[in-house]
Amino acid sequence: MPHPWHALPRLDLAARPTPVQPLPRLAAVLPGRLELWVKRDDLTGLAFGGNKTRKLEYLLADAQAQAADVVVTAGATQSNHCRQTAAAAARLGLDAVLVLAGEPQDPAQAGGNLALDALFGARLVWTDRAHRDQALRDTVARLQAQGRRPYLIPYGGSNALGATAYAAALAELLAQMQPAPEVIVLASSSGGTQAGLVAGARALGYPGRIIGISVDETAAVLRKRVADLANQALALWGQPATVRADEVEVEDRWAEPGYGVFTPAEAEAIRLAARREGLLVDPVYTGRGLAGLLGLARAEAFPPATRVLFWHTGGTPALFASAYRAVWSA
Ligand SMILES: Cc1ncc(COP(=O)(O)O)c(C=O)c1O
Repeated sequence: MPHPWHALPRLDLAARPTPVQPLPRLAAVLPGRLELWVKRDDLTGLAFGGNKTRKLEYLLADAQAQAADVVVTAGATQSNHCRQTAAAAARLGLDAVLVLAGEPQDPAQAGGNLALDALFGARLVWTDRAHRDQALRDTVARLQAQGRRPYLIPYGGSNALGATAYAAALAELLAQMQPAPEVIVLASSSGGTQAGLVAGARALGYPGRIIGISVDETAAVLRKRVADLANQALALWGQPATVRADEVEVEDRWAEPGYGVFTPAEAEAIRLAARREGLLVDPVYTGRGLAGLLGLARAEAFPPATRVLFWHTGGTPALFASAYRAVWSA
C-alpha cells in the first residue's frame, strides 16, 4: 500500500535515510537500563543538515510548481530553518529573502547560521518579534510589486505540506528499526516536525509515544498547534483529521527560561553527548530536547528497559555563533 501522501511532489534535497545509531554510553549514565537510540537528522546533508531540509523537499516542490523565482521565510537571528532555506534556494537557483526578528547584526561577527545565510547569498530583512508577520507580508508585497514571483514559507516550514515530510520520515524510521522505538523524544517549537510524526503515526498505525520537548511555548499552546497541524496534514492526504490536543505529548519545563536562553541543562546535555558519544547537539533546540530526555529518564518517566529514540533535528551551526560562546566554557 502506498503511503497516503505518496502523490505529493517532493524534491530530492536530503541524504535519506539518515542513520539510526545506538547511544549505549549515554544510556549508561541514566537509570532504568534504557535502550537509547538517535535518529541523525543532523545529517540530512544540506549545509550542515537538520529537520528543515526534509520539509523543504515538499515546500520547494510546491514553489517550483507555482513557478516561484524567490522564496521568503522568517526566523530568529540564528534560525536553522532560514539557513537551510537559503541553502536549498541556492541549490535550486532561486533567490531567498529572510525576515529575521532581532537586532541587526553583521553576519561575519555573529557567525553560525547568520554567517551561512550571507554565504548562500540570501537577502536579510531585519524586524522585531512583534512586527515579524507584518514584515513578512510587506516583503512579499514588495517583491510582487517588482514583478517577482515570491513563495512564502511559513515560520519553521510548519504547515500541512512541511509536516508531511515528518510523516514520511516516520515511515523511513520504521523501515530501518525493528522493533520500533517505544518512545520518540524531540525538540519541538513551530510544531511541524512533531505534527508530522503524530499524523504519520495515525496513518501508519505506529503506537509509540511521541514526546515534544518544548523549546519556547507552554504545553497548552504547543499541544494545540501540533494537533492543528497534524489534522491539516491528515486532511491534505484525505485521511480523517481526528487528533485532539490532549492526545499530543508536550513537556514544557525546559522552555521556562525562554527561547535561546542557555542554561546549565543545555550545557550538561551538550557536554554529555559530546563526551560520552562524540555527538554534537546545539544550544537552542537539540541541547534543550536532549536535556528534556535526560530529565525524564532521571525522573524514571519511562518503564525499565524502554526503547527510547532521540530524534536529532540538527542545529549544530549555532554552536559556532558568537551569541552562544558560553557553550565553550560551560
Ligand atoms: C535544530 C532544530 N530542532 C528542532 C526544531 C523544531 O522543529 P519544529 O519547528 O518543526 O517544531 C527546529 C526549528 O527551528 C530546529 O531548528
